[in-house]
Amino acid sequence: MRVAVFSTKPYDRRFFDHANCDFGHELTYFEPRLTRETVSLAEGFPAVCVFVNDVLDADVLEQLSAGGTQVIALRCAGFNNVNLSAAEQFGIKVVRVPAYSPYSVAEHTVGLMLTLNRKIHRAYARVREGNFSLEGLLGFDFHGRTIGVVGTGQIGMLVTRIMAGFDCRLLGFDMYPNDDCISLGLEYVSLDTVLRESDVVTLHCPLTPETRHLINAQTIKQMKPGVMLINTSRGAVVDTRAVIDGLKEGRIGSLGIDVYEEEADYFFEDLSQHMIADDVLARLLTFPNVLMTGHQAFFTQDALSAIAETTLKNLEKIEQTGSSKNEVKSQQVKGQK
Ligand code: NAI
Repeated sequence: MRVAVFSTKPYDRRFFDHANCDFGHELTYFEPRLTRETVSLAEGFPAVCVFVNDVLDADVLEQLSAGGTQVIALRCAGFNNVNLSAAEQFGIKVVRVPAYSPYSVAEHTVGLMLTLNRKIHRAYARVREGNFSLEGLLGFDFHGRTIGVVGTGQIGMLVTRIMAGFDCRLLGFDMYPNDDCISLGLEYVSLDTVLRESDVVTLHCPLTPETRHLINAQTIKQMKPGVMLINTSRGAVVDTRAVIDGLKEGRIGSLGIDVYEEEADYFFEDLSQHMIADDVLARLLTFPNVLMTGHQAFFTQDALSAIAETTLKNLEKIEQTGSSKNEVKSQQVKGQK
């Protein structure tokens, strides 16, 4: 299939070219993100391959359809950036990679927790400057602490499994209890109880209309003073301004995020020579107890291989049979499972 691949980085190219030896698709790589301004690049391509911050709103989809695009292959799990009903209206199929390596994200999540708690990021810089003082580096034992997992699907379950190894008390909130989590000792409770009783709250639900700003001024007030909040799901699950207020008041003791609601203009790019115009992002970066990574939780060799392989397989299936088990339909948006 002829595929226009957007938001391409050298590492995408490397993994896709390697996996494509088994498929023989005709891949054309474009560096820019897919937006209203760049959509014309896709003209004449039956397939378009996109990532988390490409824009697939009704306007873009209409132009894709007019240019002959019939399938959009997301090389990620989340599909919050696609207007699925518009895609259906224009007869464009949407496929995704539902599971590539939930381990990558779960392990990064726990990495954020451990680093924030023991201030390893600060200790690293300090020791390299010959400062061996421990002042300000005090952490706590995870052993015996309560971890609240919001969204106990593939990634939430793996985080639960790792934290069970630390002998934590495990609380979870999800509309669909996961038997694997229950057998790991996780207790399903209401969201209120998760927020009220957890020392660490970690978010693993998809971004949907229901979960947008799930963590907001109101829910932050319910949390334990000094709580550690971790978000490796999607930025807009959290109201960042409310979180900044929570950090300033000390209600939130530390924040670890791999995603940010307005990340699209910043993440995946080297902007070290530029000013950050987004005051909310700039403010977040001033807190010593905030650890931010730029949407890298998925970024392992294993995940990139699996993403490339599944994406190309999805396209092959669509080309050969007209459907794929990894197709996303608009009714899936509610409580994605
Ligand atoms: P999954 O579909 O296996 O699990 C999601 C769980 O969230 C499901 O059990 C679902 O019932 C639950 N859920 C849905 N709405 C909820 C709500 N309102 N409250 C509580 N739970 C709710 O998905 P998976 O693979 O575990 O991924 C979770 C999310 O992680 C993805 O949707 C994606 O946004 C994010 N992600 C982030 C990556 C990164 O690099 N930072 C990479 C991959 C995924």
